[in-house]
Amino acid sequence: MQYISNKGGGKPVDFETAILDGFAADGGLYVPEYLPKVSKEQLKEWANLSYVDLAFEILSLFIDRSIVSESELRHLLHNAYGTFSKEEVIPLHPLKSRSQTYIMELFHGPTISFKDIGLAFLVNLVDFFLQRRNERLSIIVATTGDTGPATAYYAANKPSLDAWVLYPKDKITEEQERQMTTLGASNVHPVGVYNCPDGGDDLDVVIANLYANQSFKEKLRLSSVNSINWGRVMMQTVHYFYGYLQLAEETGEPIHMAIPSGAFGNLCAGSLARMMGLPVHTFICANNSNACLHRIFSTGIFSKQDIIETPSSAIDILIPYNFWRYLYFATGQHPQKINRWMQEFANNGVIEFQGDDYANLKRGFLSYSVTDKQTIESIQKTYEAEEYLLDPHGAVAVAAADALRDTLPEGKLICLATAHPAKFPAVIRQALDTQTLPQAALHESIETAKKYCQQVRLCDQPYLEEALIHAMESNWTKTQEALYS
Ligand SMILES: Cc1ncc(COP(=O)(O)O)c(C=O)c1O
Repeated sequence: MQYISNKGGGKPVDFETAILDGFAADGGLYVPEYLPKVSKEQLKEWANLSYVDLAFEILSLFIDRSIVSESELRHLLHNAYGTFSKEEVIPLHPLKSRSQTYIMELFHGPTISFKDIGLAFLVNLVDFFLQRRNERLSIIVATTGDTGPATAYYAANKPSLDAWVLYPKDKITEEQERQMTTLGASNVHPVGVYNCPDGGDDLDVVIANLYANQSFKEKLRLSSVNSINWGRVMMQTVHYFYGYLQLAEETGEPIHMAIPSGAFGNLCAGSLARMMGLPVHTFICANNSNACLHRIFSTGIFSKQDIIETPSSAIDILIPYNFWRYLYFATGQHPQKINRWMQEFANNGVIEFQGDDYANLKRGFLSYSVTDKQTIESIQKTYEAEEYLLDPHGAVAVAAADALRDTLPEGKLICLATAHPAKFPAVIRQALDTQTLPQAALHESIETAKKYCQQVRLCDQPYLEEALIHAMESNWTKTQEALYS
């Protein structure tokens, strides 16, 4: 299996190159040359596999054995998910207060958000490739609060990696910040950035500029494990298959899924799983008030608007960059079209999908923009009804599902809960109208992080690019000297 840019530039590359590069050379996103198909018979055979064994089968469709052997892949997967606190990795919890509705709990990894699912495997894989080549590289990520902690956790103390983790200061919770800044690992470099009116999107722009700086990129061997990296999206296809197979009584049964969405990495993975053959009937794309995706699905207009701060801060995202990857497959795999649309969006800040393209991209999707009030009520009512505590992002999924349930055909519905409530104590206090958090809102790892000093670099957004170049170059030189002197 080779990988190409969804913008059509450059030559096809192998899996290892796609993973280590992050972005394709022309600024596009890597996609597999074709999407493997999974038959109903295949799905039946997979029905009783454990999460790790299922992941092995699915990833084997995308990774040539000559690049990662069978035993290496099994070993990487066991290592990645061995640290999760639940044996099933992602348990399904039935809601009592709604019929045929289940919560897919994606937060049982060490940093208690769904980012553990993709990054536990991806960071270990990057490290595996680098060790085999005897090389080092610098990974840089922007975070709205959850990618950062997971990247920092998995990169910590890996000699092959320097991890630079950028976050918009004061736009993530203190708990999320502490997860990144208390690790005490000399190769993890959290950078808190002031003055980010567009939140994480302001940081994405700086990362794109650093990537475009060819000499800097080559000198520091720059890569990214944001969901621009194909490895994240590939790995996230697995939980859709797993959730479906856990619930379906017969293969082919239509099941619906609601996903709290920001940059569309998670739902892009779900869409690709469906294109591969997973019989998900409807995906509900759940946005908060930052409703770029809802606007696309409901009107065909892809536009950038001002950011609004909400209780589900990790999805306060303006530009869902993985939408371009989905669009490539949804509109017939024409890189010229993607190139043209990306250019038009960069020039005008808006594009409109029409005709067959619009019909194709919205097929099998519903979308909804959840208000702050609905998010808070969703947490409060679900807790009141059955003492089940949603985090604000899971609450966005449940609120969107509640709003659209009557328009769906009969069938089971899975809402993806993408973070543990312990990351968002202020919102939980507000929703439950209490100062004393219930046990379900606490987590040992969050409590432990309170007992450590924080180590962080701080910077102002207008100077971020220059400041990063300086900090990253001097750190790289120092580390190379220490390693090779
Ligand atoms: C808790 C949580 N839920 C949902 C999302 C949205 O995921 P995506 O950006 O892949 O749409 C994110 C990340 O941005 C997140 O941290």
